Amino acid sequence: MKVYIKSSLAVLLVCLCSSLIILGSYALYILNCSSPIGSRVVVDKENNILSVNDDKDIKVLQLSDTQITALGDALKALDAIQMTVEMAQPDLIVLTGDNLMNGSKKFMLKKYIRFIDEFEIPWAPVFGNHDYKTDMTMDTQCKLYESGKYCLFQKGNVTDSYGNYYYNIHRNGNPIYSLVFMDNAISTTEHHLEWYRNTINSISNECGKVLPSWTFFHLPLVETYYAYRQYYYNDIPLDGEMRDGGVAYQKNDAGLFDTAKELGSATAMIYGHNHRNTFIADYKGIKLCYGIKTGRASYHDEDIQGGCLYTIKPDNTFTIDRIFLDPEDRHFIFK
Ligand SMILES: [Fe+2]
Repeated sequence: MKVYIKSSLAVLLVCLCSSLIILGSYALYILNCSSPIGSRVVVDKENNILSVNDDKDIKVLQLSDTQITALGDALKALDAIQMTVEMAQPDLIVLTGDNLMNGSKKFMLKKYIRFIDEFEIPWAPVFGNHDYKTDMTMDTQCKLYESGKYCLFQKGNVTDSYGNYYYNIHRNGNPIYSLVFMDNAISTTEHHLEWYRNTINSISNECGKVLPSWTFFHLPLVETYYAYRQYYYNDIPLDGEMRDGGVAYQKNDAGLFDTAKELGSATAMIYGHNHRNTFIADYKGIKLCYGIKTGRASYHDEDIQGGCLYTIKPDNTFTIDRIFLDPEDRHFIFK
């Protein structure tokens, strides 16, 4: 009799868990559907070109550390993404890693890709440390991202690394800027540097000049810490905040910053990871930029939610605006 009761309870438990997973998945599926915004950017994936045929601003929205995971947090993250994208009306979206969280399931990534795709805006993700701890292999994630209709992701060919790729922005047929995406979530190796060097050099050869570029990855650099120290000791006001009490930089760094400096293309290096640091610092001629956390999963401050908007002006200079979601009434604040 006891065995029978135990078996029945076990079956009941399995049914309950399955129902919760199915219901959760369904709720995630139906509750959060984004609506199309559209973009004037024409994508040529084969030649890594993003074309704009006018002289207006080109807006690139960085979202970070969305950490799509358990249902409640996922819905809040998708809501935050939707509000930030609607406010920014960007031409491109970049996700700077920790897009998912430890244990995130395949259906979550599928839903996430579909959700971002529904904006009908080209978007480019890189991986963060938590993306390496989901329920999927990195190859599965790469294939899913590559299948996104508006997703620019390319796995690339850097050894033991996933998602090192680039696109050149052309305005009226002329190359004006490069966007470089790198996976530094586990380490930065000589292979990464070789790929980066070859990429920048081949773009320079192709264009007959060194194009300015932004490089997006997840973990800050040790130079972010050096820059902060320099500002602190010289009493220079910081643009943004350091609330995390430190910089969680990539310790296995083969010298990406020095290579970028040597090649002379990078104007900004852009990342996330520290959820409560927002500062942007000029360091040896390159802007080192934290993003804004998007979504309430993991540790966060309610007043640091949103994204960072990078705008290439008609004269090809650029500006950076932070978008903060108001924790009280869902209104947006530009800072
Ligand atoms: Fe992270």
